[in-house]
Amino acid sequence: MKKHIVLLPGDGIGPEILASSVAILKTIAKKFNHQFTFEEHLIGGAAIDAVNNPLPQETLDAAKKADAILLGAVGGPKWDHNPSELRPERGLLAIRKALDLYANLRPVKGFEKLLHASPLKEDIIKGSDLLIVRELTGGLYFGRPSERRNDGQDVVDTLAYSKAEIERIVKKGFESAQLRRKKLTSVDKANVLESSKLWREVVEEQSQFYPDVEVEHLLVDAAAMHLITHPSHFDVIVTENMFGDILSDEASVLTGSLGMLPSASLAESGVGLYEPAHGSAPDIAGQNIANPIAMILSSAMMLRYSFDLNAEAELIEKAVEACINQGFHTADLQVKNGTKVSTTEMTDAMINFIATAKS
Ligand code: NAD
Ligand code: IPM
Ligand code: MN
Repeated sequence: MKKHIVLLPGDGIGPEILASSVAILKTIAKKFNHQFTFEEHLIGGAAIDAVNNPLPQETLDAAKKADAILLGAVGGPKWDHNPSELRPERGLLAIRKALDLYANLRPVKGFEKLLHASPLKEDIIKGSDLLIVRELTGGLYFGRPSERRNDGQDVVDTLAYSKAEIERIVKKGFESAQLRRKKLTSVDKANVLESSKLWREVVEEQSQFYPDVEVEHLLVDAAAMHLITHPSHFDVIVTENMFGDILSDEASVLTGSLGMLPSASLAESGVGLYEPAHGSAPDIAGQNIANPIAMILSSAMMLRYSFDLNAEAELIEKAVEACINQGFHTADLQVKNGTKVSTTEMTDAMINFIATAKS
């Protein structure tokens, strides 16, 4: 199979973890006789520094033509005081919007061997395996109908959703639940927000088309508590943009580190973008100590969702598990009796597993 992949390394640890993913994809291509070609483009702070634009047109044009996109991470203290339109994060929001990547799937599944690496009790997180379906192109992040404003005295952020925007993500939530344990938790703030009231109505309306899926509604504050007191209660969580952002970082605690959480950002049709749930981790950038697993598992999601290469995706997932079972871990994971390795050592161990696996 021939596939053209656009790489957007971005900032901080972005380039380091993306290099790990590319090395692994090259090993997969060789083993399974695929032709993957890679084309790198600027986004975020790196793009601001080079061309004064967090999402250059050239990047967007290349992304639109790609078979899939892999993105590292954007942002860092260097750009934190830039005007809003010249912040790295604006580049990320702009590419999500331009490609209509409305559905962000964030699977949260711990590894048996890492149960003790979470600050939560092992018997609480044991058996937890959930998927957060986060709306990604609407809500507070996109400030409609009036643009975000800040004149130093009065500030405005607006939270708007159309019924159609809610419907498509809610459907994605139901469809995802049908492929899993058939339980959907819709998270909102319907006791306060108009947008959440409509959200809840849409979930109720859509539920008739998915009679095999059990549905519940949770308010976001209570959901945040249940997520770490009864995580195995959840199968699929569907929620709006900002709630999903916050809950997914919280849920990463179940896995032992934010560096473990992959994601897929998908459109109704068209190119998909695959990105870890975490950020550019400026505190550890450039030291070859970042955990590459979230990025590597994101590339496995790319193989599965964009290319339908299931055996290849599974082999990457097995390589990750095998390394963890051998006790290999990067510095972010508090592992007992393990071997602390660098980003590249972890990557090399996975490459070795893939290259030598019987196919
Ligand atoms: P962050 O996710 O970058 O880091 C939070 C903590 O987790 C840090 O201690 C970091 O070292 C650690 N961490 C994250 N990923 C890790 C990994 N792979 N391996 C080891 N440790 C890891 O969040 P932050 O510090 O709040 O934000 C830093 C910058 O990243 C900000 O500019 C923010 O806007 C940006 N950001 C970007 C994205 C993205 O590009 N998708 C996501 C979140 C934050
Ligand atoms: C994420 C990040 C982004 C978001 C930021 C950097 C805009 O936190 O991908 O989770 O909030 O969507
Ligand atoms: Mn986030």
